[in-house]
Amino acid sequence: MRRPVRIAVTGAAGAISNNLLFKIASGEMFGKDQPVILQLIEMPDRMEALRGLAMELEDCAYPLLHTITLHDNVEDGFNNIHYALLIGARPRGPGMERSDLLESNAEIFTRQGKALNDHANRDVKVLVVGNPANTNALIASRNAPKLSPSQFTALTRLDHNRAKGILANHTGANPKDISRVVIWGNHSSTQFPDLHQATVLDEPVMGQIDEHWYREVFIPKIQTRGGEIIAARGVSSAASAAQAVVDHMHDWMLGTQPGEIVSMGILSDGSYGIEKGIFYSFPVRCDYGRYQIVRGLDISDWSREMMKVTEAELLEEKAAVNHLLPPETEASHQNLSICLRSGVTLYADGTGPDAASKYLTTNRVM
Ligand code: LMR
Repeated sequence: MRRPVRIAVTGAAGAISNNLLFKIASGEMFGKDQPVILQLIEMPDRMEALRGLAMELEDCAYPLLHTITLHDNVEDGFNNIHYALLIGARPRGPGMERSDLLESNAEIFTRQGKALNDHANRDVKVLVVGNPANTNALIASRNAPKLSPSQFTALTRLDHNRAKGILANHTGANPKDISRVVIWGNHSSTQFPDLHQATVLDEPVMGQIDEHWYREVFIPKIQTRGGEIIAARGVSSAASAAQAVVDHMHDWMLGTQPGEIVSMGILSDGSYGIEKGIFYSFPVRCDYGRYQIVRGLDISDWSREMMKVTEAELLEEKAAVNHLLPPETEASHQNLSICLRSGVTLYADGTGPDAASKYLTTNRVM
């Protein structure tokens, strides 16, 4: 059996986590031979709910669940972590403008970036889920000068999976036979779900679907699916978001299937003419715990326009929070060098479970 890895989850008592934590503990994310330590973080007034969730996790008697710790602050919760799943964010309230949402989440992700910088394992891998995820990832990354920006990612796998699921339903194919779907840009209604490279059973998708359906039905459906779910359920997507988190982290760490492409929100290095310094969803392949942008895909003029629209939105979001981005990390985000750190989880002193940690213990709530 391998040494356990430490995974921090923020917003840990929320709806996405309620689905996610059980998947992680059962080995769905990192494999059936990888024990996990869950460092669960919530707001102080949600700690009782979190304690109840921890009890349920314990009651599942998962062989891979080594330890659960509960924290009401990120500085403690990020201690020595190898992975950070940043789910908690302030949702948009009545009358709030997008810029208000950006600003209030900027505070949260500034603090989280600093805490990752100061307390996490130096090889920590970060996934931002809380919206606006791409720009929150930028804020966290810009506030973590000791970490490489390549250690930060934003979730667009939910959109990627949606595209596969909806296309499968439309064509009658099994989702497992659909490959090379790409989501470009922001996790928002400007994203560009691109099927021009996609295949069903190795045959190009575009030859099997109606162009009008693709442009007028499929694209808007993927772009607005989150809102459609909120309208139907009264609350945001939870189980599908959790599945997307599992898929994103699984592929990042354990690799993508040969020939497959997945979508991840990552810092732009200028590929495909996308401006550097924003977190933009690109087609990637993963191996050895690293991701790499898939280069050389054919982009038509129409596709480029779609990619530019979502780029423009991300640049606007960046401009709205620019005053909160520390100037000293500007250069590292403009010149992303290839990160030579391996994807291997490193154990520095004290990164394993410490002798004093007891199952389900926390010095704050129990
Ligand atoms: C989703 O795509 O389901 C969510 O990001 C929507 C939201 O705004 O919570």
